[in-house]
Amino acid sequence: MTEQSPVTQTNATHVAKSPDAQVVTAVRHYTDSLFSFRVTRPASLRFRSGEFVMIGLMGDNGKPLMRAYSIASPNWDEELEFYSIKVADGPLTSRLQHIQEGDHIILRPKPVGTLVHDALVPGKRLWLFSTGTGFAPFASLLRDPETFEKFEQVIVTHTCRDVAELTYGRELVESVKSDEMLRELIGEENLDKLVYYPTTTREESPKMGRITHLIENGELFSDLGLPPLDPATDRAMVCGSLAFNLDIKALLEQAGLREGANSDPAEFVIEKAFVG
Ligand code: A2P
Repeated sequence: MTEQSPVTQTNATHVAKSPDAQVVTAVRHYTDSLFSFRVTRPASLRFRSGEFVMIGLMGDNGKPLMRAYSIASPNWDEELEFYSIKVADGPLTSRLQHIQEGDHIILRPKPVGTLVHDALVPGKRLWLFSTGTGFAPFASLLRDPETFEKFEQVIVTHTCRDVAELTYGRELVESVKSDEMLRELIGEENLDKLVYYPTTTREESPKMGRITHLIENGELFSDLGLPPLDPATDRAMVCGSLAFNLDIKALLEQAGLREGANSDPAEFVIEKAFVG
């Protein structure tokens, strides 16, 4: 007997018949624990850059197995992009990691989330703090012209254990800086308006350390030639593991920034990245 693919024929057929089925148009693997993929976008789906939706596959019990995923593509894109971890024993990602072009996934077209411009009051600088796949909502926001219209400067930090885990974010920032429309918005003379600050914590790289540590010891600000966080000028969005989010939240609150929400915008917003 040949080994069955984790996305079994029966499941694939079930998914394809679901009214929420979308077709996978591209898949790219970055490391043995990270991949991104693109799917068709339902014509009716409108979302704000930074929001998430529920996506999944049909479980072996015939019930959909769904998880929250940040949409990594901007709201003007005709397809949807997602950036995911692969967890060997993760109920969904152990199977999702095997999807291929032409396969179907289930996507509930009900976007929600707090990492949106509406949840922040106006400011001068926007800080996007991420670890691991927490970069995904920022991949959406960084491709949205509104982000550069609203702020004089946008700084995105990405902390991963190893250098290869930074690839998705690094390429995304490079693509923004070379995109004609976004280049114009950022300003040809002023491409520094978008600042990328990658760090690693385990593998050697030009900048090492947890971003929380680099905030505390002031290195982040001295490296960038910027003043410390100030509620009068700085806004922040945070996306990473629970522990990371809690630590950054404490630092932001210490600096005098308040947490905002869609119904009550303030100086920073937080959301947990997909954890498995
Ligand atoms: P570290 O290697 O020191 O744990 P993970 O893969 O565990 O989600 O971690 C992704 C990245 O986030 C790693 O570089 C990790 O650093 C960092 N990280 C994890 N927890 C925190 C935290 N509480 N504060 C700051 N950075 C963190």
